[in-house]
Amino acid sequence: MCGIVATIGSRQAAPLLMQGLQRLEYRGYDSAGIATTSNNQLHCRKVEGKLIRLREQLDRSPVAGTCGIGHTRWATHGKPDALNAHPHLDSADEVAVVQNGIIENHRLLRQQLQQEGVCFRSQTDTEVVPHLVARALGQLQGEVAEADLLRLAVTRAIDQLEGAYALAVIWAGLPQELVVVRHQAPLLIGLGEGQFFCASDTPALAEVASTILSLDNGEMARLTPLGVELFDPSGQRTQRTPQPLCGAEHVADKRQFRHFMLKEIHEQADVATAWVERCLYGPPTDHLSPVLDDVGHVQLLACGTSRHAALVGAHLLEQLADIPTTVHYASEFRYAPPPLAAKTLTIAVTQSGETADTLAALTIELERRRSREGLGEPLQLLGITNRPHSSLGRLVPQIIDIAAGLETGVAATKSFLGQMLALYSIALRLASQRHSGVSASEQLIACREGLEQLPEQLSALLQTMDQQCATLAHEFAETQDVIYLGRGINYPIALEGALKLKEISYIHAEGYPAGEMKHGPIALVDQYVPVVSIATPGRVFEKVLSNAQEAKARDARLIGIGPECADTEIFDVLLPIPPVHELISPLLTVIPMQLLAYHVAAHRGLDVDQPRNLAKSVTVE
Ligand code: G6P
Repeated sequence: MCGIVATIGSRQAAPLLMQGLQRLEYRGYDSAGIATTSNNQLHCRKVEGKLIRLREQLDRSPVAGTCGIGHTRWATHGKPDALNAHPHLDSADEVAVVQNGIIENHRLLRQQLQQEGVCFRSQTDTEVVPHLVARALGQLQGEVAEADLLRLAVTRAIDQLEGAYALAVIWAGLPQELVVVRHQAPLLIGLGEGQFFCASDTPALAEVASTILSLDNGEMARLTPLGVELFDPSGQRTQRTPQPLCGAEHVADKRQFRHFMLKEIHEQADVATAWVERCLYGPPTDHLSPVLDDVGHVQLLACGTSRHAALVGAHLLEQLADIPTTVHYASEFRYAPPPLAAKTLTIAVTQSGETADTLAALTIELERRRSREGLGEPLQLLGITNRPHSSLGRLVPQIIDIAAGLETGVAATKSFLGQMLALYSIALRLASQRHSGVSASEQLIACREGLEQLPEQLSALLQTMDQQCATLAHEFAETQDVIYLGRGINYPIALEGALKLKEISYIHAEGYPAGEMKHGPIALVDQYVPVVSIATPGRVFEKVLSNAQEAKARDARLIGIGPECADTEIFDVLLPIPPVHELISPLLTVIPMQLLAYHVAAHRGLDVDQPRNLAKSVTVE
């Protein structure tokens, strides 16, 4: 949530900052700004709206300087306009700050500063920081060596802050220096040739930095054209070896597709192919043994689309591996964790590995479990993520990398498939441990066989479904409400279909377990409310068809997702998927859900990749 970048070195900062911001725009895009220092002066430009507007302003009014900071915003405090856009400055326009996160005690600090005569220009929580730094600079000037001045002023300022944040600070008084600090919001240092960087995420460092250093919580860095100095939370110099940054995989490219989302939907066949090779035919993943060996219960922590993947995983773990499983909204778990139970495997599912609520829930669980390690209980924690070098990766030693590749569209698609597949791996493994040897259950065998066919089936389905959904999307252009129904393992897919439509097309949609429709949502049904029903052969096939009939009897236009057969003739429109085993079906039924949402939004002329009010990485609570 919000992207920050900073650079210092021999090159002009503004173009480098703009390039970095462009690659972080998925983190927020309601306003943007940059500030640079040169000749003991600060130059700042900020705009409401997307980066393109900032670029236009910079073309009209360029800024000079080889040291600078930049920000792309997702508003938390104060509406998205130019005044609330970052960077924020002190009263003398000498200190500039960009922030990602939330300063929780900003009201109190603002009052204190106002009593000292400071005038605020914005409604943001961030603006207290430049004022605090300016005040500390005034106190420290002449007292400490010049090389320590900005760093110690920032230290003095952050000593007063509460919350989770990452900051980058520059000061006109020392135009060849920038200070950055991380406190529970991600921040990376990038080292290039004669140029040093700092950013919220790796894509901003691709092609400009060859190695990276990930700051730990409480760490601060001082960047000058000569290099980077790291300081631990107590202010002592510290050192770490930078890790190589593989550039290519972090560069977003739409290829021939109109939007990133469409490209990423189509990449799912590759995600499945890689997974099949790695997980069905590859060597066993021994590193997971300690956490998966003796599991009596599983709890899954996640938000948004990742939570829907977790729900599919829970169904598999219970139905295939016989293991009781609960799925928690991470934001709820962190304030009301259930009582501890022995042999509980906790799995955090997060595409970005940076979602604040998921990390907080996992941290709570980690602390609770650590306190019981003395009782001989092993620490059974696992992370499923697309970003193994994220904050999640540093929190839990055992990670399953879904390896879906960079996902740029804010609406998650290929990472959802990757997360589901990771959970299939776990469920298959735990199920095989339970039904080993000749007694391997029929379901388990059918599931494995089904998964082997998946890449080919996905590839064919993506080809045919794209056009079918594009055609159907025209019908939805004026629709206000849509109901999505599914049962069993496809209930989470109904939730995901509704979420995708809401996120990018701004049409209200409800995902419901089909059997529950008669307990409420049926009151909404008439000829203007289409019902999308997932009807795949299996235990509840007939039941789902009956639920669909109930909607049809009330004039709903019925859109079915299922195999072509006599039973599915009840649908006004059928989006056909191959007749696969029930437990495999979510991996295919999700495709029409994603494509339908995409085409409806594209048909309505909306910004599919950057829908309003959303951000890809939600690093605030
Ligand atoms: C945001 C994104 C969603 C995502 C959710 C959880 O809301 O817009 O697409 O599902 O965060 O993100 P995570 O990175 O934890 O999977």
